[in-house]
Amino acid sequence: MTIDKRFIDQFVNVTSKAALASSYLIGKKDKIAADKAAVDVMRSELNKIDMTGKVVIGEGALDEAPMLFTGEMLGTKNGPNFDIAVDPVEGTNFVANNLPGGIAVLAIADKGNLFNAPETYMNKIATGKIEKGLIDLDYPLEKNIKNLSEFKGKEYSSLTVCLLDRPRHKKIIDKLKELKVNIKLISDGDVLGALYVSDPKYNVDMFVGIGGGPEGVLAASALDSYECHFQGRFIFDNDKDIIEAKSMGITDLEKKYNLSELVKGDSLFCATGITNSDILNGIKIDNNDYISETLVTHKDSNLKKILKKITSLNE
Ligand code: FBP
Repeated sequence: MTIDKRFIDQFVNVTSKAALASSYLIGKKDKIAADKAAVDVMRSELNKIDMTGKVVIGEGALDEAPMLFTGEMLGTKNGPNFDIAVDPVEGTNFVANNLPGGIAVLAIADKGNLFNAPETYMNKIATGKIEKGLIDLDYPLEKNIKNLSEFKGKEYSSLTVCLLDRPRHKKIIDKLKELKVNIKLISDGDVLGALYVSDPKYNVDMFVGIGGGPEGVLAASALDSYECHFQGRFIFDNDKDIIEAKSMGITDLEKKYNLSELVKGDSLFCATGITNSDILNGIKIDNNDYISETLVTHKDSNLKKILKKITSLNE
């Protein structure tokens, strides 16, 4: 089924208000408070929407986070059944330290169509639109680079690969350096990191590496509208995560997921800037108004745009 277009403005409003709430905590060195402000607003705004929404990716289990926990039902219960994935503040460090890249994010799909991602890491790869089979999570990095270089007609030295700056990525970074491929290291925020591949203007040809699983599903939802390539494999490397995965019905712990297995059918994605980034401006307050920028994608209507909104602070 298609998500009715009338919902677009309503969900944009949710991430915009969540971003505004969190923006008051920019630079306050308190990432928990910055997150909580967005969580509270997201929850109350989602509850106003005429839908029966189930949080399938939230802020952890009920006992860890009282708000927007995975499994929580939201909305007036008077409307379509949706799966909801939320990341009220993606890049909590960015907001706490007044650095670029903090966003408020959600994704919506029909019931059963968003993968219930466990709270584990995911090994990810993303590129723009490519031929099937050209780039694969299981190919050696060098093969992916070679294939992408040939496909795009670009020298290795003109390709850029984005990844999180983490010690676990040392081998990848060393290999890219050896191949003379440009590296774009990000300190956090791999939803935006993956989204860089969606448009040549961001000058990122490939996104790779290990980040949060929930962030992988969120990014996949937006990348689907851009017809980008995305694959991910959850990492279950301890007993707790393995037990959780099994309780969620994941039987093949080694499975590599294609985008179409993480996000099925129609989906709607909204990310509002809290602080500025290469993709979105952060919240700006102007007298009695606030200005927000939201990247919104809606697969069925082929909507992919950055929506700038001026809203009264009293609304
Ligand atoms: P938070 O906003 O929840 O702090 O997550 C930021 C983030 O950088 C994600 O974008 C990324 O997926 C994850 O953390 C990476 O985790 P880690 O910092 O443990 O490598």
